[in-house]
Amino acid sequence: MRKKTVCVVGLGYIGLPTAALLAGKGYQVVGVDLNDRVVETINRGEIHIVEPDLAAYVRSAVTAGKLKAHAKPQEADIYMICVPTPFRAGQGIPQPDIDYVLAATQSIAALVRPGNLVILESTSPVGTTQKVANVLRQAGVDVDAIHVAYCPERVLPGKIMTELVENDRVVGGLTVQGTRAVSAFYRTFVRGEVLETDAATAEMCKLTENSYRDVNIAFANELSLVCARSGIDVWRLIQLANRHPRVNILQPGTGVGGHCIAVDPWFIVASDPENTPLIRTAREVNNRKAAWVIEQIAAAARDVTERTGRRPKVACLGLAFKPDIDDLRESPAVQVASALQKMDFDVLVVEPNIESHGLFALTSLADALQQADVVAILVKHAEFVRSASAGELDAEKVRDFCGVKFDRGSALRKANAS
Ligand SMILES: NC(=O)c1ccc[n+]([C@@H]2O[C@H](COP(=O)([O-])OP(=O)(O)OC[C@H]3O[C@@H](n4cnc5c(N)ncnc54)[C@H](O)[C@@H]3O)[C@@H](O)[C@H]2O)c1
Repeated sequence: MRKKTVCVVGLGYIGLPTAALLAGKGYQVVGVDLNDRVVETINRGEIHIVEPDLAAYVRSAVTAGKLKAHAKPQEADIYMICVPTPFRAGQGIPQPDIDYVLAATQSIAALVRPGNLVILESTSPVGTTQKVANVLRQAGVDVDAIHVAYCPERVLPGKIMTELVENDRVVGGLTVQGTRAVSAFYRTFVRGEVLETDAATAEMCKLTENSYRDVNIAFANELSLVCARSGIDVWRLIQLANRHPRVNILQPGTGVGGHCIAVDPWFIVASDPENTPLIRTAREVNNRKAAWVIEQIAAAARDVTERTGRRPKVACLGLAFKPDIDDLRESPAVQVASALQKMDFDVLVVEPNIESHGLFALTSLADALQQADVVAILVKHAEFVRSASAGELDAEKVRDFCGVKFDRGSALRKANAS
């Protein structure tokens, strides 16, 4: 049987790994991106994002002639939409922006034929899959003769190539036949279970997963503020509380970033503000945590000025939104460093996962530790954990907002006990 052709629209962190994986499974894949640089890079067999193992997948898919990138969609049996779904910030509750999804749908409409699958993978507010079908219908597509479904992506950056295959997937079609047809496609390359539902439930499922994480992180972040005021070590507190057989508190940090957990809960809140006080408050608590971190660092820096009369130097360790990645989107650490730079301080930034940054001059950890009056650990990067283990971050001027120093304390306690 002829292997089907797939057109993946949007070649970012989700679309490119998906396209390369499908090409490796024998599908003939057309990748589409509006960004010419992305298209050229991929057609050279190279990649424009940092993700382990992806480069090898793309190189081999392009060399084998199974993956080719284009600026415009090409005819295929299966269309997958993997474009961004940000929110619009402004007055009041941030609102989902599905314009990229609608534009991507419009761009494939003239190519879609009876029997095709159209799959939305972008994290989307409930009702978006139906809107995709509406756009296609208005463009003249016989929507009853195709299958339109939603299948959210739940991969972890840094492990995308493994999780694309191993994770369980949820598929929700606009019809039962659509759900079955799209699930059958996923079963050709997913080893995890493919779970079938309707489109609205699948859309809500993705938003629920990220809101669950946000609410639980907010709980940890709220505890960290209470503990700071009462002189309790929140890391030790959580370690102890988690010894309860039914308690599993997450770790506090500088806030919550990235374009998923910091964004998707707003899609639920925007759809039903009256019934979502908890989800909304969690978002606010996590945003407030970054503001609190800024206040803490600024207060320590002002103490330096009071004591010495000098303009203080503040070092921020980490910019990424989570450990050991290069992704700075919606990162609370970037927010903290930017706010400090606008104050009367000299700001040094250490971010081992990027080469340069438009706003900040990057420096080495050793220089930051030597020069700064206040050192703030904002992200739990492996390099900082290693330095802490070597006893290099013990100085009182090092303020730890993500538990790096506590881990060293735990390791030392264990070593002393053995
Ligand atoms: N990155 C993740 O870890 C992750 C995890 C789960 C879900 N998601 C969701 O997946 C979706 C995509 O996220 P991402 O991280 O891959 O985004 P991204 O920004 O890395 O990539 C999106 C790409 O789409 C391209 N694009 C935009 N409009 C286009 C159009 N009309 N035609 C062709 N190309 C177009 C952009 O140029 C960009 O290269 C989002 O909804 C996101 O929330 C992302």
